[in-house]
Amino acid sequence: MTSIPKTVAGTRTPFLERIEGGGAEVTIDERLVAITDPQGAAAEQYRMLLHRLRYARSLRGAAQGGAVIAVTSAMREEGTSLTAANLALTAARAGDSRVALIDCDLRRGTQASLFGMGARMGLSDLLQGKCEIGEALGRFHEGQMAVIAAGKAPVEPAALLASPRFIAALQTLRSLFDEIVLDVPPALATADASIVAHRADGVVMVVRAEATPRDQVASAVRALSGAPVWGLVLNGVDPARVPRPLPVVKGQLTAGK
Ligand SMILES: Nc1ncnc2c1ncn2[C@@H]1O[C@H](COP(=O)(O)OP(=O)(O)OP(=O)(O)O)[C@@H](O)[C@H]1O
Ligand SMILES: [Mg+2]
Repeated sequence: MTSIPKTVAGTRTPFLERIEGGGAEVTIDERLVAITDPQGAAAEQYRMLLHRLRYARSLRGAAQGGAVIAVTSAMREEGTSLTAANLALTAARAGDSRVALIDCDLRRGTQASLFGMGARMGLSDLLQGKCEIGEALGRFHEGQMAVIAAGKAPVEPAALLASPRFIAALQTLRSLFDEIVLDVPPALATADASIVAHRADGVVMVVRAEATPRDQVASAVRALSGAPVWGLVLNGVDPARVPRPLPVVKGQLTAGK
């Protein structure tokens, strides 16, 4: 992924105009480049990631229901949440599947603020039996894209994620959506990551370019104790080192600058 602007200015897009049944218009974070800058180089990299993951899944044969992809990292602040959010939006924008993004970082989830969802029930509330899945699902774009926020931080996140309620919630999500993206806290800092990663069909590890030491990446993969790591995402690469996508003009690729 190339560099993403740091500012958190509110941006309105028709794609996420409002949460279904949620009333007020939603203001989303401009770092969701899959919709705020869909023709940019970073958005193109997310499309490459999406299609590589879809291909990786196709090689493994069709599982029952929607595919579950967990996005994690070794340490904090490597870009997991933005990668998960942009990956889910890229899949939803492609228009051929129903997509759910689930914030499994019950300690400090950020998806609610990235999507401007305000205070609503989230995954921790669902896992504690305080709400039903329908109340936790914030649905956008005629329900084609849905987000479950982390909810109120619980005392024992790992215990909640290891509970039968989490397995049941994933089963329901697999029946409702084609692609389910999990935003997972870092593997070296929490027990949560390994628990969640073992529930996924595939795991993607986000690595911060020129920041994450190699041995930490290797330790993080080991910490997932055999969960199916499909690959790494190198995040925060110098934009000068990433090729610009060719512009699409009237439906045809041109040899643009
Ligand atoms: N490609 C990028 N270019 C520039 N800044 C980025 C990039 N990716 C992430 N960041 C910045 O790094 C910070 C962490 O990003 P993000 O919240 O996605 O990471 P995280 O791994 O989920 O962090 P946490 O451990 O807090 O959950 C944010 O300030 C974000 O704007
Ligand atoms: Mg995060």
